[in-house]
Amino acid sequence: MMRAKTGLLNLRLTNFRSYAYLNLTLDDSLVPIVLTGHNGAGKTNVLEAVSFLTMGKGLRSARLSDVGKRSNPESLLNADVIQLPERWSVSAQVQNKDGVYQIGTGTIDGSERRQIRIDGKNIAKQSELGRILRCLWLTPAQDRLFCGDPQARRRFLDRLVQAFDASHATRLTEYNTAFKQWSCLLREGRFDDGWLSGLEKQMAGTGVAIAASRIDVIERIGHYLAHPIADSFPTPDVVLTGIVEQNLLSKNALSVEEEFATHLKKSRKNYADGGSISGPHTADFKVIHAQKGMDAALCSTGEQKALLLSIILAEMKTQMQEQGICPLLLLDEVAAHLDSRRRHILFDVLSDMPTQVWMTGTDMENFTYLSNRAQFFDVQESNLSLQNVA
Ligand SMILES: Nc1ncnc2c1ncn2[C@@H]1O[C@H](COP(=O)(O)OP(=O)(O)OP(=O)(O)O)[C@@H](O)[C@H]1O
Ligand SMILES: [Mg+2]
Repeated sequence: MMRAKTGLLNLRLTNFRSYAYLNLTLDDSLVPIVLTGHNGAGKTNVLEAVSFLTMGKGLRSARLSDVGKRSNPESLLNADVIQLPERWSVSAQVQNKDGVYQIGTGTIDGSERRQIRIDGKNIAKQSELGRILRCLWLTPAQDRLFCGDPQARRRFLDRLVQAFDASHATRLTEYNTAFKQWSCLLREGRFDDGWLSGLEKQMAGTGVAIAASRIDVIERIGHYLAHPIADSFPTPDVVLTGIVEQNLLSKNALSVEEEFATHLKKSRKNYADGGSISGPHTADFKVIHAQKGMDAALCSTGEQKALLLSIILAEMKTQMQEQGICPLLLLDEVAAHLDSRRRHILFDVLSDMPTQVWMTGTDMENFTYLSNRAQFFDVQESNLSLQNVA
């Protein structure tokens, strides 16, 4: 059992996007945080800052040099003024079940290298952050995840897998590097059999490991996926539709690996002529709204949002159970598309979580149900003021 809630006791930003400086003291009982304010007020920027307190590229997957505060917009229009990327920082006191830590991160020279400090010591590996804090998020960009670009779905899936399998990212990089080389050789008409066979072997080996890891993680969160977060929330059935993933369901890994290598070899000519090839780099998944037997892509916008929330909460519960880590939840525009009944059910569920939940919205009225169970901040032109919501 968790001894204490996980969350931030304070948050400090310097030169972070629209914030020159922000110093927030947060309620130490780690109740949900609600940020409301008009468009462009600076709500998502705060969630993004929090997401930099763990490993990865934050909830916008931004380039670090874009994160530093751009000063006077007029200077952007003046070609004579050279704007160097600002150094920015995010720091916080973080409480988890093991204790309280001081985490700081940012860039010192506006470069793409992120510096990390934990309890005053410089840390080389981002994974050290992951031992203290994890974050899961939902952003408006994901509202159309089930209907949109498969690449976005694949990124969502692989981020989920990485939360459980730290070597997944390395394997994806290895696979993509080999695939890029293979692709270049063929498109340039260089049919070097030895070189191509080596790359095919590498792609088959890492590709099957990637697919196996995806299957494994979907199975692991399956227990929580099968139990809806509350009545009236849908149960998502997640089905991996990638060719290698499908093959692994019925055959052993070794024969799938051989088959995939053979498939790559046979496809050389076609690929060189401009054809495409399927593999772990084109893998996708389908979500079915189990109660309705309906493909999520055909579900209503609110149903899709509820399905996504169910997946994220299942991921969170699995992390808690397997790793003893309770990730923070960053829910941007959480109320959008949800009717008031589902919103209230969700708020009840979130209030009981052993983690700090961060929520944003443009309309305060959507959150009044949480009145004395949350800490409310009014966001205006990148200034936050504590609000009393009775
Ligand atoms: N590097 C940067 N430097 C300065 N300002 C930035 C930078 N990046 C983004 N901004 C600005 O920060 C402002 C606030 O953005 P943010 O996404 O936090 O707004 P929001 O409150 O979430 O709005 P919405 O309700 O529309 O989602 C925007 O006006 C944006 O242009
Ligand atoms: Mg926003």
